[in-house]
Amino acid sequence: MEVVPLADADEVAALAADVVEAVVRARPDAVLGLATGSTPLPAYGELIRRHRAGTGPSYDAVRCFTLDEYVGLPPGHPESYRATIARELTDPLGILPERVHGPDPAPDALPTAGARYEEAVAAAGGVDVQVLGIGSDGHLAFNEPGSSLASATRIKTLTDETRRDNARFFGSVDEVPRHVLTQGLGTILRARHLLLLATGAGKAAALAAAVEGPLTASCPASVLQLHPHATVLCDAEAAAGLARRAHYREVYEAKPAWQPL
Ligand code: PGA
Repeated sequence: MEVVPLADADEVAALAADVVEAVVRARPDAVLGLATGSTPLPAYGELIRRHRAGTGPSYDAVRCFTLDEYVGLPPGHPESYRATIARELTDPLGILPERVHGPDPAPDALPTAGARYEEAVAAAGGVDVQVLGIGSDGHLAFNEPGSSLASATRIKTLTDETRRDNARFFGSVDEVPRHVLTQGLGTILRARHLLLLATGAGKAAALAAAVEGPLTASCPASVLQLHPHATVLCDAEAAAGLARRAHYREVYEAKPAWQPL
């Protein structure tokens, strides 16, 4: 795992945008794995800014897969992850809606939704780069503590902590759905590059547990320790709990110019 402690959220956004752009330049029909939540928004904003400035790559041929989706929201709800990712990233980049996929929360098809999503990701050839956030309880996508490290896409029940964290997107915590469909930790591990973004003091404890703590289902994000190509971009606040942060910085500064993130 490569941990890159950066000064602030703007640096995280710029470097994350560099990574995503490099993938799309190398492979115009790349498969992008997209996270929702607040953390990636500055990176998505930077990708959109560069696209509009004409300096970004063409996104016409990319395919996108979101990590997760709420269950129980009416179709088209503005806080559904399908609507969110369209608004925050894929529509502004000009990516057609039919090239953006998410787990299907239709109530009558829920029992098969996980298997169908796994098949869709596999049929696309797998994810080239997966953008990730981390929950304050260490969750990855909506894999809450206790999730199998080998899990596949399936329905999960959110913890109270996550529902409180996400209440800011809804009128109240009572409006946050209890159930979600989420890629499993095993699904996420099959992406070729994991790019975890963490900003703010609220992520410091979870990030330290994920990066330097034991590999454990009690901290789902610790599964990154099993991945051959995982990159963590964090700001100073999120890095505050990392015992080896000075070393990570030294490694990054000494990185050979020929070696990409
Ligand atoms: P956040 O969520 O980016 O909104 O903090 C991260 C997550 O829940 O994975």
